[in-house]
Amino acid sequence: MKALLVIAALSSLALTACGPSGNNPNVELIQDMMEQPAVKGQRYDPWFKNGISALVPPEHTQPVGFTPYKYGTDIQAAIRENKNPLAGNMEAETLMVGQKYFNTNCMICHGQHGRGDGPIAKKYPLPIPSLMSDKIRGWNDANIYHVITMGQGTMGPYASHIPQAYRWQVVNYIRYLQKDESK
Ligand code: HEC
Repeated sequence: MKALLVIAALSSLALTACGPSGNNPNVELIQDMMEQPAVKGQRYDPWFKNGISALVPPEHTQPVGFTPYKYGTDIQAAIRENKNPLAGNMEAETLMVGQKYFNTNCMICHGQHGRGDGPIAKKYPLPIPSLMSDKIRGWNDANIYHVITMGQGTMGPYASHIPQAYRWQVVNYIRYLQKDESK
């Protein structure tokens, strides 16, 4: 026990006295998991082709349960053919999922009520459009789904942030905000 205390006191001294400065690594008093065979993120590893340790999935494969977005960049086909399986569904269960993903991913720019006035809107180099506009009210659900999946202009795609299983709920949540706004 005493020995442990001494080590603890020493290591706290070591940490304060020899903290990392510039390119000098910290003193490794107790190494525990500092040294391990696992490759650190973005590190070179001669074991892999080209030394790249951050591997991407093999070509022509897809994760189990994943269906690729079949419309790709063809927005016209998407608008024509893609149907919202939850069209008009305003149940709390649906809206809460939509709200969660909207607040996590979209709110920062489009604002809590979708008015284009999110916390970073003023700092963004271009105006953030309101989702309460007549334009977006007039869009069909598939069009909004397409923008979430593929992005639009300077807005990046959110396909990797919002799983397909929850994307229509975000569309419905925007519809809910629109309804709420017009009351
Ligand atoms: C980093 C800021 C940012 C985030 C986050 C963001 N957007 Fe956007 N969004 C934009 C900008 C900027 C545009 C306008 C892009 C353009 O047309 O050049 C836009 C456009 C749109 C449009 C079309 C609006 C129009 O009038 O053409 C929709 C719909 C939309 N976003 C929905 C969403 C949804 C849903 C999310 C969350 C999944 C989201 N956005 C996240 C910045 C953002």
